[in-house]
Formats: sequence, C-alpha cells, structure tokens
Amino acid sequence: MSLFSPFPVLHTPRLVLRKLVDNDKEAVFKIRSNSVVNKFIDRKIPSDISDVEDFIKLIDELVLKNEGIYWIIENNNEVIGSIGLRHFNDNLSYAEIGYELHPDAHGKGFMSEALKEVLQFGFSSLNLNEIEAYTHKHNKGSINLLKRFNFKLRPNKKDNDFENNVIFGLLKNEQ
Ligand SMILES: CC(C)(COP(=O)(O)OP(=O)(O)OC[C@H]1O[C@@H](n2cnc3c(N)ncnc32)[C@H](O)[C@@H]1OP(=O)(O)O)[C@@H](O)C(=O)NCCC(=O)NCCS
Repeated sequence: MSLFSPFPVLHTPRLVLRKLVDNDKEAVFKIRSNSVVNKFIDRKIPSDISDVEDFIKLIDELVLKNEGIYWIIENNNEVIGSIGLRHFNDNLSYAEIGYELHPDAHGKGFMSEALKEVLQFGFSSLNLNEIEAYTHKHNKGSINLLKRFNFKLRPNKKDNDFENNVIFGLLKNEQ
C-alpha cells in the first residue's frame, strides 16, 4: 500500500508544501550547500548539482517505499526550504521530523507555519502517536521552534551517532 500516493500537498496561509521534483535541483542545492543552513547539521554537503540529483533519487525512493515523506516549501512560487518525516516504526506510530529554510527566509515564521501543518498531517492523517526531532544542542532556532510547539526534551535519550544532538519529542495528546 502506498501511503503517499497521491502525494499529500499541504497548504497554509502563505505556503505550499509539495513534492520534490527534478526542477527543484538548483534551489535545493542553494539551500543544502549553504553554510548557515549546515552550521548545526552533520551531513555530506553537496559539492555540485549531481549530488542533489542523487539526493532527489534517494527521496523519491524513500517516499515510494513509505519510509518517509519530504515536502518542498514554497512561498510566492519560490522554494524556501523543506520539511519531512522519516524513520517510521513498524506500526507507524512514530516518526522523526527534519526541516530547513534558506537563511533569507529565517525569522518570518515560515517554518512555524509549515510545522503546524505537518504535525497535523502526522498526528491526524498518519495517526502517529509520537514525533521526535534530533537537533544540535546549540541550534537555538531549531530548539525555539520545537518548544513553540510544546516538544519536550527527552533527557534520557541519546543520539549515538551525533553526541552533540539533543532529542525532543511530542506526543499526540501533548500538543
Ligand atoms: C530551524 C529553522 C527552520 C528555524 O527558522 P526560524 O525562521 O527561526 O523559524 P520560523 O520560521 O518558525 O520563524 C520564527 C521566527 O520568526 C519570527 N516571526 C516573524 N514573523 C512571524 C510570523 N508571522 N509568525 C510567526 N513567527 C514570526 C518569530 O518571532 C521567530 O523569531 P525569533 O526566533 O527571533 O523569536 C532555521 O533556523 C533553519 O533552517 N536552520 C538551518 C537548518 C536546521 O538547523 N534545521 C534543523 C535541523 S534539526
């Protein structure tokens, strides 16, 4: 069974959250290679467009296999970032969330607007019970965003891959 077909396009007052397509590669490259965006993210930074083409294939597969969902965030027809859910557990009650905005779009409430809609999608449409976020302990923008939505620090949980990460969680009935 395909969870994400047709692809769930989401709308907010200022944003459209839609499927990633090949045409997005330049915009995605700009975001994923930006040093401000990557400051607190431990990942391979794309060095050219072909790295982004590989990334788009990876996301396509992830979505096709029901292993995750990834939305491009658009404001006024301009790609400003992305948000996604992945690492579902077997009974689809748990997922991890990730998000990023180009620095030109920071400080305008765009991610709060996108996150609100994605939480609603996760808890209502997918019927998840818990959503977690792994974030660098000094990533103030990300931590403030999570706290705004009542995510709670999970002090006993550790990210074994990245020791500087802290883990926040939100239960469906804690929103
Ligand atoms: C994490 C990240 C998306 C947060 O971005 P952000 O712009 O701070 O978050 P929002 O879009 O929700 O905007 C909230 C800010 O806009 C302000 N704002 C302005 N207009 C607003 C509006 N209409 N509605 C809500 N907030 C508004 C808020 O006051 C807040 O500013 P403050 O943090 O100075 O108080 C961003 O820092 C980012 O992309 N970082 C790089 C990638 C990253 O680290 N991702 C996380 C990996 S775990």
